[in-house]
Amino acid sequence: MRSTWDALASAPTEVVVGDPERGRQELESLFSRLGADPRGGLCVEVGCGPGRMTGLLAERFDRVLGLDVSPAMLARARVEVTAPNVEFRATDGERLGGVDDGAADVLVCYLVLQHLPSRAAVLRYLHEFARVLAPRGEAFVQLPVLEPGLRAQLWRAARGALVPPAEMLSRNPARSSAFRGFRLSEAELARGLDEAGLRVVARDEGPDAPYRYSRDRFLRLARA
Ligand SMILES: C[S@@+](CC[C@H](N)C(=O)[O-])C[C@H]1O[C@@H](n2cnc3c(N)ncnc32)[C@H](O)[C@@H]1O
Repeated sequence: MRSTWDALASAPTEVVVGDPERGRQELESLFSRLGADPRGGLCVEVGCGPGRMTGLLAERFDRVLGLDVSPAMLARARVEVTAPNVEFRATDGERLGGVDDGAADVLVCYLVLQHLPSRAAVLRYLHEFARVLAPRGEAFVQLPVLEPGLRAQLWRAARGALVPPAEMLSRNPARSSAFRGFRLSEAELARGLDEAGLRVVARDEGPDAPYRYSRDRFLRLARA
């Protein structure tokens, strides 16, 4: 994950991260579609990238902790976002190390889970979200979910078989499993949230997930 995203950090932001011009609109839309307008306290942003949304979060929250697996992305973020209430830290990509249990009043994770390379990696992060959330904290999470039906299942199985050899043959980081990611099914997501100890406060779906056989899901989560 780290080498993939370090390599991608020099690519244009709009290609590998998201349109910088749309950061505010996407963040406001994430909160408003889930009926929320969170402010104050500590916000942990998981997968902050070059800080496209981090400075905007700093306007809402007392403190923002931007976490990312890629030191190169974080180096860009530190240049882009100089608000005094923001701190950036590298993670190992598997755990939110260094974030205390129950510390986060709000957690934001946007355009990140779709890149995690395995079912286990996504589910582990759901556990971590539950661990770091304060008792009354809430997580705002976007991820694409596999559409129901056999075709989608077959597509996922074929992709799972083809991505690793393609990754070995190519030096392009955008072909790696740490970029192309894994899609949870609806049932896997529901079970994963349950096992992590998270409950859904609100949910919404986007009509326009840019991934095959997937729909964008937006979740407002709290500890069960
Ligand atoms: C598509 S960018 C999105 C950045 C930001 N959330 C935004 O919307 O502007 C994905 C980011 O997630 C980071 N990332 C990927 N896997 C990660 C992991 N396991 N843990 C933390 N960050 C990760 C990448 O380094 C990259 O900066």
